[in-house]
Amino acid sequence: MPKSSKGTGKTVAGQSSGIRIKINGSWHDFEPEQDITPTMTLSFLLREKLGYTGLKVSCDEGGCGACTVIMDGKAILSCMMLAVEANGHEILTIEGLPKDDPVVEAFAEQCEPGYGTALQCGICTPGFVMGAKALLNENPKPTLPEIKEALSGHICRCGCYAAIAQAVTHASEKIAKKGEPS
Ligand code: FES
Ligand code: FES
Repeated sequence: MPKSSKGTGKTVAGQSSGIRIKINGSWHDFEPEQDITPTMTLSFLLREKLGYTGLKVSCDEGGCGACTVIMDGKAILSCMMLAVEANGHEILTIEGLPKDDPVVEAFAEQCEPGYGTALQCGICTPGFVMGAKALLNENPKPTLPEIKEALSGHICRCGCYAAIAQAVTHASEKIAKKGEPS
């Protein structure tokens, strides 16, 4: 079974023979073959083995963005990455975001009456939130075309695209008000 620790990702000798992945701030140790098979995807590890069910697996072939998480600050499709490839890297899932995260707040507010909703069924939402986080990390004040371009790999089957883009703009404004990176 995987072990969780808050270590540095290094053994006493400075090297690890197993697989270590930092997930939402905590290092996890895995036994190759036992905990993580060579063909296991990162999305499977996160959802099915560790219970981070915020990320969704919809298409499972890189076409929808629902499984998006952040690795070392960049948005990645966890269904398209092998879990072993995350060895030594830092993964952030939506569960790792604080409740007052500007992007989380902006998406939540975008569901209130009068705003036009950014989410109906919510399946796509965690992927959009993490994609928006990665965008705003790099570009805190994106234009609408930049938002559309950055999130173009995400599909919302409920068709909430306009309000999603609006939520990202609101998140950007919140970040500017706070005067800190997202
Ligand atoms: S589930 Fe990964 S891109 Fe669709
Ligand atoms: S809110 Fe349903 S798929 Fe986007």
